[in-house]
Amino acid sequence: MALSRIHCVSLLGLEALPVEVEVDVCNSEKLGMIIVGLADTAVRESKERVLAAIKNSGFQIGSIFSTVNLAPGNLKKEGVFYDLPIAIGLLHSLGLLKDEGRHSDYLIVGELALSGQLRSISGALAIAMMARAKGKKGLLLPAVNAKEAAMVTGIDVFAIHHLQEAVDFLKDPSSLAAVKAEVSSSFSQQGPPEIDFIDIKGQEHVKRALEVAAAGSHNIILSGPPGCGKTMMAKALVGIMPELTLEEALEVTRIYSISGLLKEGQNLITKRPFRSPHHTVSYAGLVGGGAVPKPGEISLAHQGILFLDELPEFSRPVLEMLRQPLEDGKISISRSQGRFTFPTTILCVAAMNPCPCGFRGHPYKPCKDSERQIEKYIGKISGPLLDRIDMHIAVSALNHCEMEKNSSKESSEQIRKRVKEARHLQHYRFGKAKANSQLTSAEIRRYCLLDAASQELMQMAAKAMDLSARAWDRILRVARTIADLAGASQIDQVHLLEAINFRGPISSL
Ligand SMILES: Nc1ncnc2c1ncn2[C@@H]1O[C@H](COP(=O)(O)OP(=O)(O)OP(=O)(O)O)[C@@H](O)[C@H]1O
Ligand SMILES: [Mg+2]
Ligand SMILES: [Zn+2]
Repeated sequence: MALSRIHCVSLLGLEALPVEVEVDVCNSEKLGMIIVGLADTAVRESKERVLAAIKNSGFQIGSIFSTVNLAPGNLKKEGVFYDLPIAIGLLHSLGLLKDEGRHSDYLIVGELALSGQLRSISGALAIAMMARAKGKKGLLLPAVNAKEAAMVTGIDVFAIHHLQEAVDFLKDPSSLAAVKAEVSSSFSQQGPPEIDFIDIKGQEHVKRALEVAAAGSHNIILSGPPGCGKTMMAKALVGIMPELTLEEALEVTRIYSISGLLKEGQNLITKRPFRSPHHTVSYAGLVGGGAVPKPGEISLAHQGILFLDELPEFSRPVLEMLRQPLEDGKISISRSQGRFTFPTTILCVAAMNPCPCGFRGHPYKPCKDSERQIEKYIGKISGPLLDRIDMHIAVSALNHCEMEKNSSKESSEQIRKRVKEARHLQHYRFGKAKANSQLTSAEIRRYCLLDAASQELMQMAAKAMDLSARAWDRILRVARTIADLAGASQIDQVHLLEAINFRGPISSL
């Protein structure tokens, strides 16, 4: 009876870390197993599943006692990855799996049902990336997760349905072929956008603002009365953003996979996420919670849209917390196990009413609120947060005439074409996938030069609107995007004027 070592993993935040499963067996009067190595309850319950799965797969193991050690001992082990490696280790130790030591070439993960069938796990993509980084010959994992793992190139992935199949494969690797990735078909399966711009009536200046927001990845806030279409238009925005690149799709899929949020049969997320957390969302829900934190809403929106409807209703700590991820494109969480960092490259769209009753500035419905009530409502959003939102757009209610008119002439697809061209210009300018919203002050001085007339216009606006230096930079970033949409190398007065307009009546926000 030999000691066996099987290579497996543990997930920590978004990372998959190597774990070695050591199995030792000895004769005993009673069948039993002990699992040590900072294992949580789900891992300790492994022993019941493994012993039943081995028996039900037809192996005769007699009366033995096995000791399973999960190393390194200081790393917390969570989840159900260890059933299959423990079973393989046990069979190998008992001499029931004669595989010439082949098991150590592979990374082996999977949850077993009592029948010996394999059940799905989360985090397959991150696990496959780790297997590749460790130079493994291949990865054995539950068949349902195999296509997702196969999206990672440079590692052979084998789909295992049953414990017996894993045993047969290790004895004779020619018994299974590696799973082929279906990247291009995943991308081609994208359906039409949920809400198309062609269905939005009127609101031309809001639609134009959304096009600019998509083109330069500018955070945007929409303020307007109830029912004016804020939520509808925020949802439509995701459909005019450029398609995800494969690299971005893998980043997003990895986050959803680790969070256990991939739908059945979904191997790659190819659509930009749209997350709309309710205003009662907790700090942990937005940032990520748990002893070993899982990504929160803000990371689930990575490479997509985070929609904060009814912005002033969110709690103050939640709103304050948004500042760092909006600025840095990532969020860090400290825990006793260390520091976890999740990516948060998001376009933040916020919506709010102009006052508590919602009708301030409405053409025919009166506002019932006092000045104080309005001030208190607006005051809930802090200045530093508003500073990170480039565009402030007032949305007015459609009148009946406009409602009866035909909808827009342009579809989301047509607008997206322009957005993509503007993004190409930005990537070319910066030499990487960076958008104008991320221009630093130095870059603004370099890429947002104004001619004499535009400078004069800017000075006048600064005086009239009492602009801070930050607000000034924000206008220039938006102006750069407007120039890019027009294919212009220099910002001119027309671009600048439109950018100033997109700052909206800041005093009413
Ligand atoms: N411009 C528009 N074109 C077509 N339909 C519209 C338009 N504006 C509003 N609607 C219709 O009105 C409904 C309500 O709009 P929506 O929920 O987006 O408003 P809202 O501004 O978010 O309101 P609230 O402040 O109450 O959240 C939409 O589902 C849509 O059917
Ligand atoms: Mg709404
Ligand atoms: Zn009001």
